[in-house]
Amino acid sequence: MSYFPDTPILCHSPRITVIGAGKVGSTLAQRIAEKNLADVVLLDIVQGIPQGLSLDLMEARGIELHHRQIIGTNDYADTSDSDIVVITAGFPRKPGMSRDDLLLMNAKIVVDSVTKAIAYSPNAIYIVVTNPLDVMTYLARQATGLPSDRIMGMAGVLDSARFQTFISMELGVSPSDVNAMVLGSHGDLMVPLPRYSTVNGIPITELLDAATIERLVERTRNGGAEIVALMQTGSAFFAPASSTCVMLESILQNQSRLLPVATYLQGEYGLKDIVIGVPCYLANNGIKSVLELNLTDVEMSALHASAQAIRKILDRTQEVFLIRK
Ligand code: APR
Repeated sequence: MSYFPDTPILCHSPRITVIGAGKVGSTLAQRIAEKNLADVVLLDIVQGIPQGLSLDLMEARGIELHHRQIIGTNDYADTSDSDIVVITAGFPRKPGMSRDDLLLMNAKIVVDSVTKAIAYSPNAIYIVVTNPLDVMTYLARQATGLPSDRIMGMAGVLDSARFQTFISMELGVSPSDVNAMVLGSHGDLMVPLPRYSTVNGIPITELLDAATIERLVERTRNGGAEIVALMQTGSAFFAPASSTCVMLESILQNQSRLLPVATYLQGEYGLKDIVIGVPCYLANNGIKSVLELNLTDVEMSALHASAQAIRKILDRTQEVFLIRK
């Protein structure tokens, strides 16, 4: 049931549910509507917040010139038949808190959210944004039994966007000309790949010296923490929302964009039974395929070290879950 029964429905429109109407979720809802991508259902556990935010967004429609409906709710029944469900519910990092500190708090919320959402949208594609991302996506997949092409995590696009920004700032060139590629976990052991990061096709290894590249790589690894340290009372949300939106657009519009996505690997890159960021083609059915890049020994061992770090957190989470059961 719509909260805006008088709004005329002109034609079938794709529907995206965003669970968690906080900073990331509400900014994402705004991006989706203003880019005219889909109708949005914004769901939160707190009464009134998603309803208020969606009414506010609806009231901007005449100015922003789009016709998307934005529904705010606390009830999963309103999310029925969504094409895509994005999970941003959980808590962001506070100063001094690592992504891993968030682990137990967010694991329960994510598992609860996907389990409820899938009952109403069994055919949807699911994108997890809540941190620690790789582990949350693994748990969500485990809880729902979704095939790996229909459940994924958003992190690599954001990490790559940060690397792209720092490269463009260092060289004084347009970020639109910079393509950056970051694989691995969404954490301190992420794997920025300078060889596959280019300015209009020219690898940055030909434009910057090794020490400068290492400095940019380090800043990318600390990209989230840098913002947390500045804001003190919250974490990044504009770029995370934009990064999620790129994935939604590629899926909804069947663009087959090649994006770094946290996905469940079954032997690719020599990794099994783990969710980690690797390049994937995103299209109508979700992950169309995983691209296996040629990595040097150093790059490959960095990716495996990243996977080991995820595995460690995952094992600890499952241990604690079992103890508490
Ligand atoms: N069901 C639905 N919503 C929930 C639940 C739940 N069980 N638990 C918490 N929420 C909601 C909160 O009420 C809040 O509105 O999730 C929202 C989280 O919003 P913020 O605190 O503003 O956090 P945000 O900055 O949006 O980050 C959300 O995305 O990038 C990641 O690290 C970030 O894990 C964090 C997540």
